[in-house]
Amino acid sequence: MLAYLENCPNCQTPISQPSLFANIGYLTPEQTSFVNEFTRAKSLSFCQACGPKMLAKARTNQRKRAWKSANFFEEQKKHSLIKATIVDHYFDGWANILIGHMQRYPNRFSPRLVYADLFAGQGRYDDGQESTPLKILARVIENPKFRQYVHLVLNEKDEKTFSRLQEEVASYPGLETLKYRPVITNLVVGSKEVTELFNDTKRAPTLVFADPWGYKGLSIDLFASILRKPGCEVIFFFNYNRINAAIHHSDKSLRKTMELLFGEKRTELLRQELDAITDQGQIRSAKREKAIVNAVEQALKESVGASNLYTIDFRFRDEHGSRTTHHLIFATTDKRGYALMKEIMAGQSTSAGTGQLFEHNPNPGCGPVQQLLIQEPRPLEILAKQLQSFFAGKELTYPDLHNQHQFTTKYLEKDYRKAVLLLEEQGLITVTPSRPLRPKRLGQPTLGERVLIKFPNLASNSS
Ligand SMILES: C[S@@+](CC[C@H](N)C(=O)[O-])C[C@H]1O[C@@H](n2cnc3c(N)ncnc32)[C@H](O)[C@@H]1O
Repeated sequence: MLAYLENCPNCQTPISQPSLFANIGYLTPEQTSFVNEFTRAKSLSFCQACGPKMLAKARTNQRKRAWKSANFFEEQKKHSLIKATIVDHYFDGWANILIGHMQRYPNRFSPRLVYADLFAGQGRYDDGQESTPLKILARVIENPKFRQYVHLVLNEKDEKTFSRLQEEVASYPGLETLKYRPVITNLVVGSKEVTELFNDTKRAPTLVFADPWGYKGLSIDLFASILRKPGCEVIFFFNYNRINAAIHHSDKSLRKTMELLFGEKRTELLRQELDAITDQGQIRSAKREKAIVNAVEQALKESVGASNLYTIDFRFRDEHGSRTTHHLIFATTDKRGYALMKEIMAGQSTSAGTGQLFEHNPNPGCGPVQQLLIQEPRPLEILAKQLQSFFAGKELTYPDLHNQHQFTTKYLEKDYRKAVLLLEEQGLITVTPSRPLRPKRLGQPTLGERVLIKFPNLASNSS
């Protein structure tokens, strides 16, 4: 029950003391939760002046959302294609690297790799295009090495969608060539059964893809249990807009969903951080976005408890380029996996600038303030400066330099190479053997494993 308030927490209309003649009261708690879930409002309550309008808006939005879900599989949208391409290309690189190891050291590794799609959908859009699970299945079938090692596990909670997926997989040409027949389950992510699947410590190296509708079902604890095992990685996709709208709601079920995604402690910290943003307009939106994405990544790092958990994200903008709709986040404890995903995300990104964030923006000119805040231009000179201070006083090889620093930036491997050569050219580092004594590749001196790079101390540099 709401304590007596003088004004409506949403529209500030003065509320009369309940009496026979004054009947401006509030919506019921159920109606309030409903409005909070299906509109952008985040209020403790709504009075009889603003409430009916808000309720009507919530009902319309609920219908729109249901319509969108029901029509999700009609045809592939551009952002779904990019998401599927990133997952597909990463899967290809990941499986190749791991199978290479398994073949080299057959006694050390299990002869099986698992690709698990927790929210698999029906496999094919109604217009005939293959969606992510079938794209991956096709990739496995066309590669003789993959056929021997990869085991697909596809899960879908909706009975009808699950049956359609089963049919699609069962009739896929070449299925009989696979050593491991795909497993298709009809479980609910969030249930104990799914959590227990990933508690098995003898689990084979696993790449998990999680692509729910919205963000419900994503759980930081589930991801952490997957990521604690070496060789296991997670790619997840979520609707940023909905999280942004729901984070402050007092509604119990929304609170629970947020806490599953961010962890209890992080959710509270994030709320405080968002409350402290005093800017307005686009700067406010950009800062909120940065805080929310950081919170997801931090929550993951804390729950895995590994100092070497690396995350990288790719964002999707709406058709006008003015708002962020989704984020795709990748998490791994493997340095090569991280570098590989960086290259793949950069290849799908519409922001082509050096060191910039990865995103799909159908209208890249739009949103100058957003770009300014999240996507500052970062030319090579900035990377070169960062390297000078990060490695001051150290001597190391180029692969070590790249490995140690790449997690802090969106620069690609080729950018690191150029930044080191730039520092060498400017005489700000010592490289041994020197330039004329090193072989050249594509007209540039190489930075092989035997080449040593020495950074002077910053103090001695400035004296
Ligand atoms: C966005 S679609 C997945 C699309 C798929 N990744 C693709 O590329 O085609 C989300 C799917 O997750 C299913 N789903 C939603 N909540 C789920 C849950 N808790 N457990 C398992 N599946 C769920 C929905 O029925 C829906 O088919």
